[in-house]
Amino acid sequence: GPAPLTAPSLLAADFARLGDEVEAVAAAGADWLHLDIMDGHFVPNISFGPIVVKALRKRSAIPFDVHLMIAPADPYLAAFAEAGADWISLHPEAGPHLHRSLQTIRALGKKAGVVLNPATPVDAVAHVLDLTDLILVMSVNPGFGGQSFIESQLSKIATLRRMIDASGRDIRLQVDGGVTAKTAPLCVEAGADVLVAGTAVFGQKDYAAAIAALRAPVRA
Ligand code: DX5
Ligand code: ZN
Repeated sequence: GPAPLTAPSLLAADFARLGDEVEAVAAAGADWLHLDIMDGHFVPNISFGPIVVKALRKRSAIPFDVHLMIAPADPYLAAFAEAGADWISLHPEAGPHLHRSLQTIRALGKKAGVVLNPATPVDAVAHVLDLTDLILVMSVNPGFGGQSFIESQLSKIATLRRMIDASGRDIRLQVDGGVTAKTAPLCVEAGADVLVAGTAVFGQKDYAAAIAALRAPVRA
């Protein structure tokens, strides 16, 4: 199949040199930059907010893929759109009205994503496909980088691939958590077309080689 897009997760970058890290990973061939927004409430960790996204926006034209792990998310959607997000994804558990949240993101002129935690069923997105540009399958419990890939999520990816293809819609299928050169081909074989990787890119010396390794092992 075609090589997947790669979206390095800034969470594993050197936070004392974030702007340089964004430039470096874009120069190394990253397709998107994945930005993990954590509030210490929806997930047990705190990262950064829209002012950091806005500051980084000046450093690169690479698409910004913003993964919101905050609850409620609705009050902050406009702030992330204005900060320069291109894709804004949120968890159905982050608010009572996922359909309305996706409408809001679309109305802001951004691509809308739905993120499924490891225990969240595919049914959570089944009735909002018409408002969805991306489905993100979490292959770890969100909150931290460097965790191990949860293999049970591969069948969820395969189910979502069938659901997306049957819909005939242009929806990206992304996977996030424990994605390495070893687990990437499993994700792609199951049907993922965008790979998020934090440690497997920013934890390596050679970003270009790390990104190439995520794409390379794809079997025909
Ligand atoms: C986890 C984040 C991930 C994280 C992935 O909550 O959503 O994007 O940065 O890190 P790795 O690739 O190291 O598992
Ligand atoms: Zn993420």
